[in-house]
Amino acid sequence: MRSVSTLPDLWAAMEGLRQGNKSVGFVPTMGALHEGHLSLIRRARAETDVTVVSVFANPTQFGPEEDYDTYPRQLKEDAQLCEREGVDLLFAPSPSEMYPAGYATYVLQERYTEPFEGEIRTGYFHGVCTICAKLFNLVRPGIAYFGQKDYQQSVVIRRMVRDLNFNMEIRICPIIRESDGLAISSRNAYLSPDERRQATCLYRALQKAEEMFKAGERRAAPMITAMEEVFKEFPLAKAAYIAVVNPESLREIRRIESEAMVLVSARIGKSRLIDNTRLSAR
Ligand code: PAJ
Repeated sequence: MRSVSTLPDLWAAMEGLRQGNKSVGFVPTMGALHEGHLSLIRRARAETDVTVVSVFANPTQFGPEEDYDTYPRQLKEDAQLCEREGVDLLFAPSPSEMYPAGYATYVLQERYTEPFEGEIRTGYFHGVCTICAKLFNLVRPGIAYFGQKDYQQSVVIRRMVRDLNFNMEIRICPIIRESDGLAISSRNAYLSPDERRQATCLYRALQKAEEMFKAGERRAAPMITAMEEVFKEFPLAKAAYIAVVNPESLREIRRIESEAMVLVSARIGKSRLIDNTRLSAR
C-alpha cells in the first residue's frame, strides 16, 4: 500500500494506479477506522480494480462547539488496517494541504441539507459537500462508497454528484452494528458504560417502527408516537428528532405508500447519535 499526504504525490500515485484503464473505488473517511469503514473498503475491493481511502478530519464540517480538536486521530492504526484490507492508496492530507491560506470556495447545497442534521449542525453539509467535491476531483473515482448510517449525507452527496456532473456513482452500503444493535460510530467511544447501555434506544425505536410496518401500519404518526414511547424507557437518552421521510426527497410523509426511511437521533450524555432504517413493502 502507498500512503501519500500531498496533492502532487496523490496525482502521481493515481496516474500509476489508473494505468490499463483500471476502475477506481474510493472510500472517504475521517479516520479512526472501525468495522463500518472496513465494510465500505471491502465492498470497494470487491467491485473495483483499485481501492483508494482518504483519512481527513475535515475542519470545515465541524461547528465551533463541536469535537474537532478531540476527534480521534490514529493514522498509524488506520494505515495498518487499510494495509490489511488490501487498500492500494491511502491519502491522509493535512488541513493546510486541503485548505491553504486564502482558501475561499465552498459547495452549498440547498433543500436536502436543511432539515435534521443540517438544522442541528449549522454549516455541517457545507463542509461535507466541499470536502467531498474536492476529494472526488482529486481521486476521480468510478464509484465512491458511503454508509447508510449517515443517510442524509448519502442523499446529499448523491444529489451533489448529479447536480455538479461528477462522472461517477455513489454506492450506499448497509449499516454495521454492534451485537446489541447500536450502529458502530467513532463517537460511541465518548459514552460512559451506563450511556453505552442505553444507546441501544435508537435501534430499539427503529425496530418498533419495523414491527409496526410489518403488521400493516402505514401512518407515520402512530409510529413516531410508539418510538417516543420506546425512548421513555431510556432516561439517559433524549430524542433530537424522529421522522418518517421519503427516501429521495427527505420530506416528511404522513402515509407510507411503498417505501420510507425512518430517521432518528438522540442525545445521550455529551454525544448525539444517529441511526435509521428503511421500511419497504417490496
Ligand atoms: P466518517 O464519519 O469517518 O464516515 C466515513 C464513511 O463511513 C461514511 O460514508 C459513513 O456513513 C460510513 N460509516 C460510518 N459508520 C458506519 C457504520 N456503522 N456502518 C456503515 N457505514 C458506516 O462521514 C464522514 O466520515 C465524513 O462526513 C466524510 C464523508 C468523510 C467527509 O468528510
